[in-house]
Amino acid sequence: MDDDSPSTPIKKGTSAQPRAIFNPMSVVGFALALFGGLGEVFIFLNNLFSGISLNYQGVVVMLFMLVIIIGLVLVGIGYWLEKNRRKSGREASFSGETLVRHPILALMFAVGLTAATAIVIGTGSYQVYHMTESVEFCGQLCHSVMNPEYTTYHNSSHARVKCVECHIGEGADWFVRAKISGMRQIYGVLANDYPKPIPTPIHNLRPARETCEKCHWPGKFIGFKEKILTYYQSDEKNTQRKLRLLVKIGGEEETALMKGSGIHFHMLSRKVEYISRSPDRQKIDYIKVTRTDNSVSEYLDTDNMITDEEIKNSERRIMDCLDCHNRPAHKFRTPMKTVNASMKQGLISTDIPQIKLQAVIALDTDYKTTPEAVTGIGNALRNFYEKNYPGFINNHPKKWLTTVEEIQAIYKRSIFPEMKAKWKVYPDNIGHRDWPGCFRCHNENTKTKEGKALYQACNDCHLILAQGEDISKSNADFVSGLPFNHPGNDEILDEYTDCNDCHDGGKTVYE
Ligand code: HEC
Ligand code: HEC
Ligand code: HEC
Ligand code: HEC
Ligand code: HEC
Ligand code: HEC
Repeated sequence: MDDDSPSTPIKKGTSAQPRAIFNPMSVVGFALALFGGLGEVFIFLNNLFSGISLNYQGVVVMLFMLVIIIGLVLVGIGYWLEKNRRKSGREASFSGETLVRHPILALMFAVGLTAATAIVIGTGSYQVYHMTESVEFCGQLCHSVMNPEYTTYHNSSHARVKCVECHIGEGADWFVRAKISGMRQIYGVLANDYPKPIPTPIHNLRPARETCEKCHWPGKFIGFKEKILTYYQSDEKNTQRKLRLLVKIGGEEETALMKGSGIHFHMLSRKVEYISRSPDRQKIDYIKVTRTDNSVSEYLDTDNMITDEEIKNSERRIMDCLDCHNRPAHKFRTPMKTVNASMKQGLISTDIPQIKLQAVIALDTDYKTTPEAVTGIGNALRNFYEKNYPGFINNHPKKWLTTVEEIQAIYKRSIFPEMKAKWKVYPDNIGHRDWPGCFRCHNENTKTKEGKALYQACNDCHLILAQGEDISKSNADFVSGLPFNHPGNDEILDEYTDCNDCHDGGKTVYE
């Protein structure tokens, strides 16, 4: 006879009772434990075969463990309750005839049912979960929305870093935050209710300490970085000019040539806090520096004074990598830069008169959609050259075709009219020509109360080694470099000048 059979008399009409394990709570508990177990097996197999571990894998493994434990506890409690129930003389929970006659069959039925459910739920949610973490999901599911960031990302140094690695942190709190804001975004896309362009800066981006500093060692002494920049002027001949610039990135060491030392010294030697009253952080109103020797300075934008009251009540941001490197993965390059780059590569023919100027004008025109832009660019260029250089197109059909196709291709990879995304709305804070960048703080009007400006001399940040047509020789010294000889007018610019007054990356500078 059954061990579990109650000691109290069996109810009349039933010859046998199922074991006490047959009760609703134990069955549910069993199903949960099975579900958890299958989940763990899945993760194990995934790691074994794909070799790629999940983000938050630790959290998921823990969750499945918890489910298994809860399930087993429920099985135990159910068994205990069922025993007591029968002891007190009540009927067994599962007393159907068949169940009683064929306990094994019933057990198999229950197991089959729960296993099927578990597999469906388990694999389904697993796949969905896995998919939501992928670059393709982030970049392509909401194709029209994310296309600008997805395209620029693939042209960046970080094209192998997953979106979630910069945008979402590790740990359960980020998991919940990201999935909730993700749900909101999916709703936004379905309801066609989202801002165009997507606003920047992002306020809940993962802190730089957790992202950038995982791969980049902040104290690393990078020293001088040489940049060779190639420009083409707006004249008939598209005159080429080059600039050899030594950027003083620096780092932790102090050298005779770099006081400080260098640009990265910001981060390492002092704490810089600032207040910006504009949501895009392109105007900075107040800066406080605390140095390692505990000395403090405060700088204020004297052009647009912030009140003491506002200083007390405004949100402060501590400067980190992202205040300068705000476009590590999504650079929206300006027409000035993209056209220069394609001319240098020979994709835009420098034999076409004025092509630099005309290409920048064609790209910096408002179009509603990409197809409209592609035809618009083609037509505008054709009209201009047919009118001003009759016969040129017919005499140079090949050069013409590749040049026009390249200008259209530049548009497609850097300007996204459907999302209103382009360089004008996504400033790059490295530099100071086309956007305020470093000059947000380092300008003549940002001063201490005593009147000391935060502005640094040109050669505190970089040295010009050579400029003009031939940059293979230099007569510069490594302390002060050469004064900048501005293209077009050959003016010497070596005192503070707000480049962004004339330059905006597009055609404005030529007007
Ligand atoms: C190397 C780190 C990094 C990676 C990888 C990355 N992003 Fe970004 N993303 C950023 C930063 C930094 C910003 C701008 C933050 C700011 O200025 O506040 C940003 C901004 C954005 C924005 C807001 C609009 C904008 O351009 O400012 C979207 C949308 C976005 N990213 C989507 C993506 C998608 C989709 C992927 C993967 C295809 C991705 N990101 C990969 C760092 C990254
Ligand atoms: C998963 C590792 C990883 C993470 C995270 C990462 N980077 Fe990088 N980063 C790299 C690698 C690798 C390169 C070099 C790529 C190359 O040489 O083309 C690089 C290059 C760079 C460069 C120089 C090239 C350029 O595009 O100007 C900068 C600046 C940079 N990273 C900044 C950042 C910032 C800021 C963050 C945080 C938002 C970040 N990185 C996060 C791996 C990473
Ligand atoms: C008064 C307006 C004005 C100011 C201020 C100004 N620029 Fe310019 N800049 C121009 C014009 C106009 C051109 C185009 C010259 C040409 O090609 O004919 C130009 C061209 C250039 C070019 C060549 C770009 C190319 O792609 O051909 C560089 C580099 C440049 N400027 C740097 C600077 C820097 C750096 C500053 C600030 C220190 C600055 N400019 C300030 C008007 C200005
Ligand atoms: C949020 C304001 C802010 C921005 C933006 C900013 N800086 Fe600074 N910078 C400071 C402050 C504050 C100091 C320290 C001044 C002091 O100690 O009195 C400083 C100091 C420096 C120094 C001197 C370093 C030394 O060791 O003495 C350099 C070089 C420098 N910045 C370069 C740059 C460059 C390049 C950029 C743009 C990529 C930039 N800064 C953007 C606030 C800023
Ligand atoms: C004050 C502005 C500023 C801050 C803050 C800053 N950087 Fe930079 N960083 C620069 C500039 C300017 C360059 C030179 C960029 C160029 O000319 O291409 C640079 C270059 C780099 C490079 C490229 C070096 C190379 O060899 O190409 C890396 C990587 C980098 N920074 C990482 C970081 C990281 C990580 C942080 C945060 C710990 C950080 N930076 C903070 C201004 C800054
Ligand atoms: C606070 C630091 C700082 C100061 C001061 C500064 N620059 Fe720069 N400058 C930069 C950085 C950073 C870049 C970006 C280098 C790069 O392209 O990666 C830059 C880029 C440039 C470029 C190349 C522009 C381009 O996009 O092609 C020119 C030209 C230039 N600076 C001239 C000047 C002149 C002239 C002065 C003085 C009137 C000056 N800069 C002052 C930090 C500074």
